[in-house]
Amino acid sequence: MHEERNADQKKFWDGPTGQKWVQHQDDMNRNMADANAGVLRLAAAKPGERVLDVGCGAGQTSGLLAAAVGPSGHVTGVDISTPLLGAARKRAPNNADFIHADAAFYPFKPEYDLIFSRFGVMFFDDPAEAFANIHKAAKPGGRLAFVCWRPVPENQWVIVPAMAAQPFLPPSPPADPLAPGPFAFADPKRVEAILTKAGFRNVKIDKLDGRMHLGPSASDAAYQMTQIGPLSRALNNVEDEAVKDKVRAAVTKAFEGLKKDGEVAPAIACWLVSASA
Ligand SMILES: C[S@@+](CC[C@H](N)C(=O)[O-])C[C@H]1O[C@@H](n2cnc3c(N)ncnc32)[C@H](O)[C@@H]1O
Repeated sequence: MHEERNADQKKFWDGPTGQKWVQHQDDMNRNMADANAGVLRLAAAKPGERVLDVGCGAGQTSGLLAAAVGPSGHVTGVDISTPLLGAARKRAPNNADFIHADAAFYPFKPEYDLIFSRFGVMFFDDPAEAFANIHKAAKPGGRLAFVCWRPVPENQWVIVPAMAAQPFLPPSPPADPLAPGPFAFADPKRVEAILTKAGFRNVKIDKLDGRMHLGPSASDAAYQMTQIGPLSRALNNVEDEAVKDKVRAAVTKAFEGLKKDGEVAPAIACWLVSASA
């Protein structure tokens, strides 16, 4: 039964994580400025186009795409998270709407010129099945453009907090690199195989290097990283507030050491992925 598929992710994004993402949506949008600029350049949305924003979250990219396609175009965001869609609908421009659905199974019609995502397509239990469904949303001649993460060791924004926190956290089993989650598309050969199987052609995967702009305060940056992102997931299993305080203090110290030109801005390493439908 497909209702059972992606059930863990639905629970995850519908629960406290979704609410934290709403709370930090403005931080997130500032943090992601480099990734945003890269993926929006790649997508090159044009006036009059119809765009599908997959895993649109609180809808910042949906709004930017809506501005790019103008009043004669339209953007539809699709997401599984009730709190994030609530936030997206509050800020929606006139030429955007949002669907509460699993993008892997929603009965899309072939009506979109551009299928877009900012870090919203790495969470499917069966990515080939999900992308085969997403492919149905593309018009003949339509295109796909998304940004996803390269492997963890290349992402300083993950490694620095993780290493600082490690002495205070119980050892965790090695992560399954193919499990749904932020790093599930770290291997470009896997991404290419998934997209090709799903019916996409001319798959192109390029590096995007940039910074995560966490702001001027190391302690604010550390707080954000304990609320959203991989370290927050590890902390979800920690009940002891004293341990959480120690982790925050250690991450603050590590970020203090990274500060440059008054900003905490660890390196980000992403893939920019494009294809034709
Ligand atoms: C890392 S967040 C990115 C959100 C947003 N694109 C952004 O950049 O702020 C991943 C998003 O994908 C959504 N998502 C996960 N699995 C999904 C699915 N099967 N169908 C639709 N959305 C999904 C989550 O609810 C979440 O909003």
